[in-house]
Amino acid sequence: NNIETVYSGIGGYEKIEGIVETFYGYVKENPILIPLFPDDLTETMHKQTLFLTQFFGGPRLYEAERGHPMLRRRHLPFPITPSARDEWLACMKLALIENQVEEPYYTEMIERMTLTANHMMNTPES
Ligand code: HEM
Repeated sequence: NNIETVYSGIGGYEKIEGIVETFYGYVKENPILIPLFPDDLTETMHKQTLFLTQFFGGPRLYEAERGHPMLRRRHLPFPITPSARDEWLACMKLALIENQVEEPYYTEMIERMTLTANHMMNTPES
């Protein structure tokens, strides 16, 4: 069909891979986020690449490998505070900019990820 997805509009799988790599580079440097993540981010990056591909209209790679996303449930083991949400989104904004994601895709992606990030919060600020 001829309906343009965000995924194809930004440049497909390679672009998602670049965004994910840049994003976790920022996560590694972030004192609020890094304690939540495993030491080795290889698998985390892989899962996120599959997820964002599917989330933005590409092939349903995440479901094929991991089943239904159930993202809130999968995040419950990690205390996600409002500041962790803010830092996650800040890292993602930098990653989109650094990977030259342009309008209208930048705003569309940040809006959708903001909704999901809000949904992931499960712990009040300490
Ligand atoms: C997994 C943190 C928001 C998508 C994880 C993990 C952590 C984490 C610690 C586990 C790492 C792992 O399984 O290797 C956070 C924090 C967030 C946040 C602090 C702040 C709000 C989001 C958002 C999305 C997302 C907004 C999607 C747009 C995922 C995915 C996984 C994951 C797909 C892998 C789930 C799995 O298959 O096991 N996240 N996350 N996260 N996160 Fe987040």
